[in-house]
Amino acid sequence: MRNILLFLLTLLLLTECCGNKPDVCPPDDPARAVNYNKTYPIVDSLLRVMTLDEMIGQLVLYTSDWDVTGPSIRDGYVDDIRAGKCGNIFNAYTADYTRKLQEIAVNETRLGIPLLFGYDVIHGFRTIFPINLGISASWDMPLIKESARVAAREAAAAGLHWTYSPMCDICVEPRWGRISEGAGEDAFLGSAVARAMVYGYQGEDLEDPLTIAACVKHFAAYGAPHAGRDYNTVDMSERWLREFYLPPYKAAVDAGAQTVMASFNEYDGIPATANSHLLTEILRHEWGFDGFVVSDYTGIMEMINHGTSRDLEDASIQALNAGNDMDMQSGGFSDFLKKAVEEGKVSRKTLEEAVRRVLTVKARLGLFQDPFRYCSAEREAAETKTGANLLTARTLAEESCVLLKNDNALPLAKGARIAVIGPLADSADDLLASWRGAGQVEGVKSILDGIRDYSDRIIYVRGCELDGDVKTGFGAAVTAARSAEAVIMVLGESCDWSGEAASRTSIRLPEIQTELLKAVAATGKPVTIVLMNGRPLDLSEESGMADAILEAWFPGTMGGEAVARLLFGDASPSGRLSVTFPRTLGQVPIYYYAKNTGRPYVHPGVKYESRYLDCENEPLYPFGYGLTYTTFSYGKPELSADNFGPKGSITAKATVTNTGSREGTEVVQLYLRDMVGSVTRPVKQLKGFERVTLAPGESRTVEFEITPELISFWRKDLTFGPEAGEFRLFIGPASDCQEYATFTYNE
Ligand code: BGC
Repeated sequence: MRNILLFLLTLLLLTECCGNKPDVCPPDDPARAVNYNKTYPIVDSLLRVMTLDEMIGQLVLYTSDWDVTGPSIRDGYVDDIRAGKCGNIFNAYTADYTRKLQEIAVNETRLGIPLLFGYDVIHGFRTIFPINLGISASWDMPLIKESARVAAREAAAAGLHWTYSPMCDICVEPRWGRISEGAGEDAFLGSAVARAMVYGYQGEDLEDPLTIAACVKHFAAYGAPHAGRDYNTVDMSERWLREFYLPPYKAAVDAGAQTVMASFNEYDGIPATANSHLLTEILRHEWGFDGFVVSDYTGIMEMINHGTSRDLEDASIQALNAGNDMDMQSGGFSDFLKKAVEEGKVSRKTLEEAVRRVLTVKARLGLFQDPFRYCSAEREAAETKTGANLLTARTLAEESCVLLKNDNALPLAKGARIAVIGPLADSADDLLASWRGAGQVEGVKSILDGIRDYSDRIIYVRGCELDGDVKTGFGAAVTAARSAEAVIMVLGESCDWSGEAASRTSIRLPEIQTELLKAVAATGKPVTIVLMNGRPLDLSEESGMADAILEAWFPGTMGGEAVARLLFGDASPSGRLSVTFPRTLGQVPIYYYAKNTGRPYVHPGVKYESRYLDCENEPLYPFGYGLTYTTFSYGKPELSADNFGPKGSITAKATVTNTGSREGTEVVQLYLRDMVGSVTRPVKQLKGFERVTLAPGESRTVEFEITPELISFWRKDLTFGPEAGEFRLFIGPASDCQEYATFTYNE
């Protein structure tokens, strides 16, 4: 009976057919993986011969001992593979190592079902791109897609089939360290980024050995933990969830993402891991998702701590029955599912469906045709950190940086005498951020190194540590500043202050860094701050002292070069914030798509309106904001007609002109406001954007189509659709733009 798979395969390769499902590929990108719609008879054949143990093995995912993001539950994962008890492995890579493990699965188990290898390829694999919050600030979907393509090529060439990305968690909570991993606060922008990443990872054909399956995470609403503490309780209305949190996950699913990861948090009192409303009703029934759902790390076991399961057996039964197909790391499926099926607590049909989903994804990846198709050491060498990959990383790093302030300090003159100061200036390591895949710091240029390429008259002084109260370096920093024509201070957070399990109660720079800035700024020399950080910061104090601020996030492998190119004008900043920067933590949560309230603050000084006594309502830097080295003016938005109905649409346009003396890129943004709804509507919602690059004096008319779909929302009865009435349409450079035109939608 050994290796029945070989027999089945030979049989099936002769009969393999592609039954087509209706194509649900969104019209905006034909590049959805083409084999998404195939059916795979091998899966049925296997299901007919699999034992209960073999089926359960396919639902089990263990980490190898290479790289662990939580407690390692199982030491003997290799024995588990050999015994057919573990069909999926994560944190194992390189063509050689994955081949070794794959050989065990294929040659030493009865059915020889290939393993699926997963990994957190979050913002690059070997070539590291900026953190995702930075990537989203580029608003450049083709380039974001290309970065995911590069990550997929590098990862797939190292034997990987599956990435735990894109992370689609909307977040308005800067204390939460994982805000760095997502695309910011907005559902529309977040959806575009999610789609681009799925298309990038999965390519045009999942069987292509340089594509990998995507995993939409963390489903759902993980980005809204109370008080920003990681893993904390999430609670919000179904309406709020659907309108502001679910769209990016759905966009990724619609783009063909093969897998979804259930989040650690509870939603409406039920851990997402076993939340059938999320995993079955919404994901499968409403959205038609046909891939598999994996728990997050020990998520199933954690249901005991949540207090909704008595023990691991109970948790495992609840999870599978709710639609969670694969157990990452808890060991519960492995230990208890067989008994649960035998006792009828999990039906055989439920089990088989889960196994079918997992095997189908393996089939879509081409693993039944050739389990070793991803394990090629030559390809691994050829694909890793190529010149083209690094260039993509540098371009994306440039585009992700956001120029927050510039009082004529930038760009700097090449060859100028510059003092480079600050605890992050010479750190290549921090550039790579958390979730750096298999990225290595060797050969990575720090920002200081990048700056040195532009001038040999650089004086570098660290000045202080990231935190603490040692000021002994202040004197040298001030002396250096005095002797220089300009100062660059590289300040911010350590890269491990954001990411998983890295929440903070302060969003200010550590006091010591602000003090250093104060001392240096007192010299009167023009000071530019380059910031590295993984969350929106309160920069109220610093913005008053610096002449220029460049938000560089954690910009990745090529970040040092990219930042230097921006500082010296070889590239121009074009990033725009994908998340609001508050004036103070007291304003949090703050986001541009707020509701008007019954008492909007419109009369300065009036007490009984929605306002603070000690702070303005407006943030320091709004969503969509960012400067460059030129300026733009906007004409009034114009409409092709002032009304339309269910079968129609109108075109909105505005003319943008480069009014400065350098070429520059503007991100033209379209916002809508529905003036009267059956439920309250946000004062603005992003509904379109376009990056345009204009020469000095050049104008471009940017057009957007306004359709019933675009104005649809979750109405009073929780159906999704448009409502008749008046709308305001804004086209401008950021979410605080004011010029609008008005139109009516008629039913
Ligand atoms: C994280 C996930 C990640 C998983 C596997 C978990 O702790 O929440 O985002 O994909 O570990 O490493």
